[in-house]
Amino acid sequence: MPPETPSEARSPSDLSIRVRNLQFRFDDATRSQRWWHGGDPVATAFFNALSATFPDGEKFFMDSVRHFRHLTHEPLRSQIKDFVGQEAVHSREHRTFNALATDAGYDIARLEARTRKVIAFGQRNAKIRQLAATCALEHFTAILAHALLAAGSTDLTGAPEEARRMWSWHAMEELEHKAVAFDTMRVATRDWSPLRRYLLRTLTMAASTLLFFWTIGANMASLYREDGLNTPRTWWRTAKYLLAEPGVLRRCFRPYLQYYRPGFHPWDHDDRALLAQTEARLGLAAG
Ligand SMILES: [Fe+2]
Ligand SMILES: [Fe+2]
Repeated sequence: MPPETPSEARSPSDLSIRVRNLQFRFDDATRSQRWWHGGDPVATAFFNALSATFPDGEKFFMDSVRHFRHLTHEPLRSQIKDFVGQEAVHSREHRTFNALATDAGYDIARLEARTRKVIAFGQRNAKIRQLAATCALEHFTAILAHALLAAGSTDLTGAPEEARRMWSWHAMEELEHKAVAFDTMRVATRDWSPLRRYLLRTLTMAASTLLFFWTIGANMASLYREDGLNTPRTWWRTAKYLLAEPGVLRRCFRPYLQYYRPGFHPWDHDDRALLAQTEARLGLAAG
């Protein structure tokens, strides 16, 4: 097994993690639409289920990484500050977005309470395991982000312009900071044996995968129940939506498995071109 090198510098040297303090405003047409994603209850439930986990989930990520900041050096130390800055803005904007679903009649507070329970369970573990769970979930957000932004993706096509813009901006910043938690974990475990580091990373990923799918699935079931749609037929449509067309989870499967490769690093997959394209498309390139 190749050693997991403990050096801090495996992210690209020209990477910049920018905190863009954006605020999204949704028009009345979007606000009044319960199924805002193209009138589709399945796509709407998937994105609402994800969004409901973000404010508390991202708070957990920030706390987990910040706990080990004192062990790091530049440039990682500054990257942690920017990572926290980006996640704080994401949380704020998703809170606003979640309020739209609440206004549309969904009990989002119940979904958020579920997320808090799962996080409280995670917080019973040692801090280093919490950091490993953050790395695992940041890998999820990064591969999901890549899938949403990649050329030819139709995952956001049915959504109103401002919602598309918000999800694309969030996805872009997830790619920018995808290695910050990971590099922090490498520093925090630099005295461990390669095997012990590998086991921490991969076993925590396996456990986090189960918890993530359980939470998202339970959230979607809650939303379907409120729509009177929690039926085998809807779940069949859900499976087709996620695995066939547009099939976002199908497209995430191979990149997901990469995480189990010995020596893996998030920047083994270079997303700089996709980042630059997205930044230009959203009119957010630094001028
Ligand atoms: Fe985020
Ligand atoms: Fe993130």
